[in-house]
Parts: sequence; C-alpha cells; structure tokens
Amino acid sequence: MPEFAREVRAGLGRDGQKTLPCRYFYDEVGSALFEAITRLPEYGLTRADARLIRDHAVDLAARLDGPVVVAELGSGGGAKTRWILEALARRGPVTYYPIDVSPAALAACVRELSSVAAVVPIAQSYLEGLREVAARRPAKQRLLLLFLGSTIGNFDRGEAAGFLADIRASLLSGDALLLGADLEKPVPQMLLAYDDPAGVTAAFNRNLLARVNRELGGDFAPRNFAHEARWNAAERRIEMHLRACAPQTVRITGANLTVDFARDETIWTESCHKFHVEEIRTMAARAGFRCEAQWVDAAWPFSESLLTA
Ligand code: AVI
Repeated sequence: MPEFAREVRAGLGRDGQKTLPCRYFYDEVGSALFEAITRLPEYGLTRADARLIRDHAVDLAARLDGPVVVAELGSGGGAKTRWILEALARRGPVTYYPIDVSPAALAACVRELSSVAAVVPIAQSYLEGLREVAARRPAKQRLLLLFLGSTIGNFDRGEAAGFLADIRASLLSGDALLLGADLEKPVPQMLLAYDDPAGVTAAFNRNLLARVNRELGGDFAPRNFAHEARWNAAERRIEMHLRACAPQTVRITGANLTVDFARDETIWTESCHKFHVEEIRTMAARAGFRCEAQWVDAAWPFSESLLTA
C-alpha cells in the first residue's frame, strides 16, 4: 500500500481523535490554494516574512563573511530568496540549492533565479536534501540554510526541537540557519488568518478530502465537513479541523478502509504553532545554534532569526 494510503488508514482508522497529516495538503490544487492564502489580507505571515528578508538581506549578507553557498528547505518558487542571493552576489558568484519535493517549484527556481545564482535543484525531502547538499557543497564555503515561512510551526514543539538538532547535525561549525517563525498575536487576528471570510482556507482544508477521493478512491462529500480553526492556548497553536456536519460513513477503497463519523466528530488536519522571540533563541541554543540577529516585522509580528552553528 502506498505511503499516502497507509497514513490515511492510520489517521482515520484509529480510536479517538482522527487525523490526517498536513503535508498532504500540497497537491497541485492545494498548492494553488496555499498560494491564494498567502495573498489574503487576513493572512499577513508570508508578506511579513518577505518584508523582513527584503529589508535585512544586505545586513544578513554582511554578517556572513567569506564565500557562501545557499540552500533552502521547501523552497517553493524561491521568490523571497532573490533578495538574499542578490545581496550575496555582489561579493561574487553564488550557488543556490533549492530543496523541494515539487518538480514544478524547482523548475520555477531555476527559471526565476538562474540570472542571480547557479541554481542546483534538489528534488528530495528536507533532511535527505540537506544531506545531499552537505555531500556536494564545495570545501571552505560557508553554508547559509533558509527555512522560511514558519513551516517550523507545523511541527509539534518537541518535533521542531528535534528537527533543528537534525539540521545542526548536517551543518559545519560556522554555517548559518535563517529561520522564519510566526509570533503569537491577538487570538481574533490569528483565528481570522486561518478562517478567512472568502473561504480560501476552508477550501484548502477540504481539498485534503477531495485529494483522498481523487487518489485513493474515497467517497467523502467534502461539503459535509465544516472547516474549523481553533486556538489551543495551552499549546499556543492554531489547530485546523474538519467537522462532520452529520453522521456519515466514508469508504476509501485505496486504503481498504470504511470510516464512521459521528455528528460533530472532527478530523484534525494541521497545527500551526506560534512563538515568542525568546523561545526561538532558547530552542535554537538547545539544538546547537547561537542567535546572531533577530528581526521582527512591525506590521505583522513575525521573526527572522539568524542562527550560527
Ligand atoms: C505552510 N504553513 C507555514 C502555513 C501555516 O500558516 O501554518 C500553512 C497554512 N495553513 C493554513 N493556512 C496556511
């Protein structure tokens, strides 16, 4: 059974809270819906990330002396990265390794950024891709690794700490990590960012059920599930759920599974943790990084932390 089918079976077939992993949001339709989310007025996160990078790229480059190669985890089309590559390219030629599982995203990086850097696409998952970069990187060049957009927030806090330690294990002393993380803000503002009035985030969430139908022969009626964003104050995270509007039974042939839903039962599809700036420094220090600089956006609390291994 393919991995997607196994994970759907494990998440929906279990007793207690049903779950689906958020990484399956990003098929072609889901990636387009996410792109639309980043343009919503209520979702300021991506624009804050981009503003910080644009405004501090020159300062960032100045803090990394000597030749630098750049790699990025989950590059997407690499739009925000251009400012960093341009700032570094003023000193000499730059190599950029975008790491992404999406061939379309990597093709966009090559198309858009080859005029600024030598782009070497790596079509792998985060840690495998990073190990590949570690094996290929030229000797005596410092590596700047980018992990932007607060994707770190989609890990549970314990997993995030473990992930930073795994990253550190692939870096050499003196290498740097630029980590983008969304900060806690008033609850109504966070809820609106994940439950926008145009319903784009709802469509993004429900597309997961449509994807199960398309790829695994499921018979979900996505409109029978309501999108829900909740703030979990104890864990400081937005949780996205899909709530069954009525009792129903769903058959998923490709996962060899029949699932019963009670009315109001939910599928938990994503966690989006929010941070305090100090906790990023502490988490980074535990993983073996020193915080060189931290920048916070004035309009939408979001931080960019420059961490040195
Ligand atoms: C990709 N990730 C950082 C987004 C977030 O805000 O956690 C995913 C997202 N989910 C709903 N809206 C955006």
